[in-house]
Amino acid sequence: MYRTHTNGQLRATDINKKVTLAGWVQKTRDKGFMVWVDLRDRYGITQLIFDEERTPKEMMETAAQLGREFVIQVTGTVIERESKNPNMPTGDIEILVSEISILNKSLTPPFTIEDETDGGEDLRMKYRYLDIRRKPVRNNLVFRHKVTMAVRNYLSKKDFVEVETPYLIKSTPEGARDFVVPSRMNEGQFYALPQSPQTFKQLLMVGGMDKYFQIVKCFRDEDLRADRQPEFTQIDCEMAFIEQEDILNTFEGLTRHLLKEINGVEIGEFPRMQYDDAMRLYGNDKPDIRFGMQFGELNPVAQHKDFNVFNTAELVVGIAVPGGNSYTRKEIDKLIDWVKRPQVGALGMVYCRVNEDGSFKSSVDKFYDQEDLAKWAEVTQASPGDLICVLSGDTHKVRAQLSTLRMELAERLGLRKANEFAPLWVVDFPLLELDEETGHYHAMHHPFTSPKPGQLELLDTNPGEVKANAYDLVLNGNEIGGGSIRIHDKKTQAIMLKHLGFSEEEAKAQFGFLMDAFEYGAPPHGGIAFGLDRLVAILGGQETIRDFIAFPKNNAGRDVMIDAPAPLDKEQLEELHLKLDL
Ligand code: AMO
Repeated sequence: MYRTHTNGQLRATDINKKVTLAGWVQKTRDKGFMVWVDLRDRYGITQLIFDEERTPKEMMETAAQLGREFVIQVTGTVIERESKNPNMPTGDIEILVSEISILNKSLTPPFTIEDETDGGEDLRMKYRYLDIRRKPVRNNLVFRHKVTMAVRNYLSKKDFVEVETPYLIKSTPEGARDFVVPSRMNEGQFYALPQSPQTFKQLLMVGGMDKYFQIVKCFRDEDLRADRQPEFTQIDCEMAFIEQEDILNTFEGLTRHLLKEINGVEIGEFPRMQYDDAMRLYGNDKPDIRFGMQFGELNPVAQHKDFNVFNTAELVVGIAVPGGNSYTRKEIDKLIDWVKRPQVGALGMVYCRVNEDGSFKSSVDKFYDQEDLAKWAEVTQASPGDLICVLSGDTHKVRAQLSTLRMELAERLGLRKANEFAPLWVVDFPLLELDEETGHYHAMHHPFTSPKPGQLELLDTNPGEVKANAYDLVLNGNEIGGGSIRIHDKKTQAIMLKHLGFSEEEAKAQFGFLMDAFEYGAPPHGGIAFGLDRLVAILGGQETIRDFIAFPKNNAGRDVMIDAPAPLDKEQLEELHLKLDL
C-alpha cells in the first residue's frame, strides 16, 4: 500500500497513529540538527520532521538531500506540532518519520510550484503538468468537475439522456471555419470536426429521443480571445414537443440550480430583454446588468445646434459615469486617448461634468447651454458628481465603442464584482445578419433556426427585420449559452437556405440528410448549448477560460507543451493523398 492517508487528512485526533504518506516535496527547511519537509498531494500538505535525536543518521542525510518535487513515501508517527499553524488544516500535527523512500527524483522545476508562482504564462503552458500541481490550477479543475457533475445529475433527473455524436462529420456552418481531417480511405475527401453537434441533435429528436444532452467537445477555427478556445466544451441540449418558453424555463432551472449548488446564491426569475433593447440600452447583445450606466440616446437633444460632429452623426449616445466628475482633466484626456485606440476605434469623445451644485461643464460649452446639458443629464440619468461621456457616429459602430467604454469604466470602478451574479435572457434575435463586407445576409444563430410565426413572408421584402425564435443566456456580461426553436419541415428549411444564398443543389448536397429526415415525421423541437468553459470560469469568479481547461491552446492556437500543430512526415502525407508545396 503506497499510503494510508492523504496529505490533507491528518488532524490532532490522529496523534500517535502510525501512518504512511506519499507525495511531492513542496519545500524543505534544514537546520542541520532538524529537517522539516512539506509533503504535498492533491489533498493538501503535511509537515514531516526529521531530528537528530530521534532520526537515524542515514535518514537525516537522505532528508537533507531531498530536492523540490522529489516524489517520496514516508512512514512515521503523527505527533503534535510544537509551533502550530492555524492556517493549515493539518497545522496541528507533523509526522516524525521512521522510514523514507525516494520514489522518483525531480529536476528543479522551471518555476515555483506555489499559489503565487514566478513562472510566466508561456513557461507554465510548456510545463502544464507542473502548473497543474499548483493549487489555483488544481482547484479550478476540481471546480470544473463539480459543475460538470451537477449538470449531469440535474439533467439526468429531468429525463435527459446523454448521447454521444460523432466527431468525424461533414462541415456544419455555425459561423466559424472548420478544422478538417483528411480521409486516407477516400482520396481527396475530408471530414470536418463539428463546430457543434447541431444537426445530430436534431436528428436525435427525429429519432424520438425527446430530451438529449451531451457534454461535448466542439471545434472552431476562429481567432482566439480570453473567452474562446479552438476546442471547447458545450453542454449541448435539445428537446422535442416544446416551445421557446419551455426551453427558457428548463435551462433557467439548470442555471439557478448551479448557482445555488456551486455558489450558494439564490436567484429569482431571470429578467428577459429583447435583442433590440439590449443593443439600444447597452450597445451589446450580452449586457452586464450588474451595474447601471445605461445608454441615453441624445439625438433629439444634441442635434440641430451648431455642433456639426453631432449633426452629421447617425447616433449620438452617452453614459453617465458614477462619480466621474472627480476625474482630472488629465484623466479625462487619457480616457479620450483610450477610446481613440484602434481596438476601440472612436473618433473622439465629448464629455460633460455634472457638478455637485447641479451645474454643468462640458467640452462643447460653445454649442450647448446649461439648459441643453440638463437634458443630456436627464437622458443619461446622470446625477451630481457624475461625468457624461458621449460618442457619435454610425449606429452600429458607436454602440460597440460605447459598450467597450462602459465595460472598461465599470471594471475600473470595481462595479464588476466576481461574486455577484446577474443572469439575463436576451430574446427575439434577428434571424439574419448583414455581412457588411459581402453585402450578403447570413444566419445570425444558424440556418436551422426558425423565424417567428408569420414572419417567413418578410424574408422576401425585408430580411433584416425578421425576428427569430432564438435566445441567448447572458451571465455577468458573457454569453454563456445560446439556442433556438428549429425549423422542422423541409419546405421552410429550403426557403431559409435559399435566402442564405444556397442553390437548390448546394442545399441538397450539404443538408439533404437533414431535410430528408424532416420528411419522416420530425417533431417540433428546439434547444440550447451552454459554453461549459465559460460557465465554469464565471461561476468561479473569472473570465479567462484557459485557466479552467487542463491543457489549453495559446493565443496562436498552439499547444506549446506537445508542440502542436506540427508538420507530417512525407509518408504520412502521401498516405493521406496530400501534396504540400511549401
Ligand atoms: P453557439 O455557437 O452560440 O450555439 O455556441 C453555444 C455556446 O458555446 C460557447 N462558445 C465558445 N466557448 C469557448 N470557445 C469558443 N470558441 C466558443 N464558441 C462558442 C458560448 C456559446 O454561447 N449549436 C448551437 C446551439 C443551439 O442552437 O442549440 C451553438 O453551437 O458560450
